[in-house]
Amino acid sequence: MLSYDVVVVGAGGAGMMASLSASEDKSLRVACISKIFPTRSHTGAAQGGINAAMGYRDANDSPESHFMDTVKGSDFLADQDAVEFFTTHMPKVISELDYYGVPFSRDENGLIAQRPFGGASSPRTCYSADKTGHVILHTLYEQCLKNGVKFHNDWHLLSLAVDNGNFEGIVAMDIRSGEIHAIQTKSVVIATGGFGRVYWSRTTNAINMTGDGTAACFNVGIPLKDPEFIQFHPTGLASTGILLSEACRGEGGYLMNKNGERFMARYAPDKMELGPRDLVSRAIEIEIKEGRGFGEAMDSYILMDLRHLGEQKIMERLPQVRELAMDFEGVDLIKEPVPIRPSCHYTMGGIHVSDYRTCSTPIEGIHAAGECCSVSIHGANRLGGNSVADVVLFGKYAGLGAKESAKKRSFTTTKKLMDETEKWKEKFRSIRLKKTGINMFKIRDELAETMWNNVGIFRKESEMKFAYEKVSQLLVDYKNAMIGDSSVKYNLAFINYIEIGNILKLAKAITLGALNRKESRGSHARADYPNRDDIKFLKHTLIYQEGDQYRLEYSPVKITKYQPEERKY
Ligand code: FUM
Repeated sequence: MLSYDVVVVGAGGAGMMASLSASEDKSLRVACISKIFPTRSHTGAAQGGINAAMGYRDANDSPESHFMDTVKGSDFLADQDAVEFFTTHMPKVISELDYYGVPFSRDENGLIAQRPFGGASSPRTCYSADKTGHVILHTLYEQCLKNGVKFHNDWHLLSLAVDNGNFEGIVAMDIRSGEIHAIQTKSVVIATGGFGRVYWSRTTNAINMTGDGTAACFNVGIPLKDPEFIQFHPTGLASTGILLSEACRGEGGYLMNKNGERFMARYAPDKMELGPRDLVSRAIEIEIKEGRGFGEAMDSYILMDLRHLGEQKIMERLPQVRELAMDFEGVDLIKEPVPIRPSCHYTMGGIHVSDYRTCSTPIEGIHAAGECCSVSIHGANRLGGNSVADVVLFGKYAGLGAKESAKKRSFTTTKKLMDETEKWKEKFRSIRLKKTGINMFKIRDELAETMWNNVGIFRKESEMKFAYEKVSQLLVDYKNAMIGDSSVKYNLAFINYIEIGNILKLAKAITLGALNRKESRGSHARADYPNRDDIKFLKHTLIYQEGDQYRLEYSPVKITKYQPEERKY
């Protein structure tokens, strides 16, 4: 049996920051397991930048303004103590990244360059052209290797072993060999990213964003917080949903309907294209619905025009965006506008973190950071550029929290861990040999279609009820799924099977949370309840799993400085 003091699951920005901060203590053995090679993690898709009130481009900017913008962006559902901690500590974390060697773009004074992003009152998004997440990943990986973090790449988390509230370790599969391992550990940081692949048919998310760690925590009794809040990024490529960074609009790009209007003037007259994402995505969909878009039905779109920025600026600041538009839409945005439409981008909710300073969950020894969890600093709508900031900052504090847990706890019995491991070995054997059953990809595709059509940008009771019944039925079908691959080594069909099970469970929680939130707030827009209702719903959703049943509770939002008011941009 493998044994470490701290195990981090996931090697994106949060996982690697957690590994790095835990491994600063040389007395601890720290391992990081990742289902893909670390530098290919989804943080690499965070193109446009990372928010911190450095004040380099606007001397009037401050952590307080960042705090206020984030709370307003969240539609007042964020916990304000956590947000203040976040915005106050971000400038120091940027300096640490700079020191580690992240090659940030520079301004004319040699300072880290900052650009405007949606919902922000100052240009505070630090960037490295349009490859910010990518360069942060590479730098953190180097630092982790320097610190002696043991990486297990191509290892997939199967479950957490918790016996009567006592955390014993994790079970994971080495995908290359097909071996299933028990890993004893005193503490774990779950940093497996979001679950945007619930919306498989139209998402900016990498194919592996299936909420594996979130589902594993849910399975051992940790509640999901606010899962109903799903962010749709306004500018996915029309035909694939692939992300074209908010940096396009930050650098001055326009959104235009088929009448040639910059229609954002109708929805956010002050901020225009730099309104927050929930508002801009809805505006695009309304334009399409009211006949001012191009194309038909699922092939509808509007245009983003960057031509006026000029070739030099585009090549300097947005080179990857240009390549993506050429490769996946066949459009050179130096010469012509590019067709775009909102695409599922981010899950604001996730594993319930009960203490933002240590990123601990209700089970001692289990910590979580990044998109897999909810601290909660994003509330009902995240601001662009606050995600990479979230992963590095709370990744760091989760690593420190896990380090403290490891020092406080001792290795316990491993009975539950060994039982879980045997259970998985038997599961792997039996599902490989299963000859008949329901095609799991059919289940996945039906899930994606159901969620996109019924629990999407605009929601209403009858559609969500339909989705809830349908997803519940798909969960029943899943019990009779077959994978059609009997191999032991590199059995990616088995990994897909685990992933599909995870997104099904999370989809049911998204739908249940959405059905019961009878108001419109941030990304959750209901046609039947069009207004925000602070009297009844200024509260977090918490969903618990009890057998096959889900139980719903609510918990208060922490309001410290900013009382809810109407959101205007
Ligand atoms: O649009 C973007 O570059 C994405 C950034 C983010 O989600 O924060």
